[in-house]
Amino acid sequence: MTQVEGKVAFVTGGGSGVGFGQAMVFASAGSRVAIADIRQDHLDEAMQQLETTGADVMAVRLDITDREAYAKAADEVEAKLGPVQLLFNTAGVSIFGPMQNATYEDWEWQINVNLWGVINGIQVFLPRMLRRGDECHIVNTASMSAFVSLPGTSIYTTTKMAVRGLTECLAMDLKDSKVGVSLLCPGAVNSNIHEAVLTRPKHLEKTGYYGADPEAFARLKKVIESGMEPETLARHVLKGVQEDQLYILPYPEFRLTLEEIHQRVMAALAKPEDDPDYERRVAARVPGGRAK
Ligand SMILES: NC(=O)c1ccc[n+]([C@@H]2O[C@H](COP(=O)([O-])OP(=O)(O)OC[C@H]3O[C@@H](n4cnc5c(N)ncnc54)[C@H](O)[C@@H]3O)[C@@H](O)[C@H]2O)c1
Repeated sequence: MTQVEGKVAFVTGGGSGVGFGQAMVFASAGSRVAIADIRQDHLDEAMQQLETTGADVMAVRLDITDREAYAKAADEVEAKLGPVQLLFNTAGVSIFGPMQNATYEDWEWQINVNLWGVINGIQVFLPRMLRRGDECHIVNTASMSAFVSLPGTSIYTTTKMAVRGLTECLAMDLKDSKVGVSLLCPGAVNSNIHEAVLTRPKHLEKTGYYGADPEAFARLKKVIESGMEPETLARHVLKGVQEDQLYILPYPEFRLTLEEIHQRVMAALAKPEDDPDYERRVAARVPGGRAK
């Protein structure tokens, strides 16, 4: 999508951090922007700043894990701003610690927001986009955790690797359509994700990690406060959308780690000369398959 001016954007998690940066940058580029967020205080603060761009903007309170509410929010936004052509599946949460401490509720909360939230966005908006047939773009925010596993990040990493797989497959399925697809993988971003547990629903509050603990928040904030500013990150996203890039990976500091991971995988992958059955399997392959 070369021209984002006049296009309607729907940004989940648009009240803070990465999503707010996307809302600001696209509003400044002339898009009409709806921010959707579970936190009213985040929406209120964000709207104050978004209104300074002079763009058409609106806020909608939404828990992206609630499918019915999501469809209603989409109707509300489209009635006010027009058909959504840019979907930013950005809202996400995190809680860290060893997997052996996790409760079912720790798993469920993160999977619900980080994975089901993205799925819900696609289920709600993709049929509308395809039916209308105009140029659209979907940006799914994962993380460098979609490529890199680190100790203590198991649930988060599980969700982000899933979002990567989902996005890569979606791009293939939509290659002949007018809907572009991008996967955004940030490293550290100076956002408010350190206090993500504040949005945790009551029925999933049982945790093996931490709750609204100022010490935990301060420790987590230290990791991200030197990270990229959300609007800087969002300018990479704007370019990625304009150039229809599948991967938006604006963190060169991960080059070495990614090379090492891929080298380790290649070293583990069997070689044809070591497998006497290889030729037969390849000859029997379905045309169009990719494994050769
Ligand atoms: N901050 C980082 O270092 C970093 C790094 C890599 C990836 N990310 C990803 O960026 C995305 C945005 O996170 P952020 O860092 O901007 O955090 P943030 O907490 O600043 O913003 C996330 C927003 O999502 C909202 N939200 C949470 N649960 C929601 C729900 N169920 N429904 C609707 N809104 C909900 C929050 O209220 C918040 O306003 C996430 O997907 C996160 O995993 C962040």
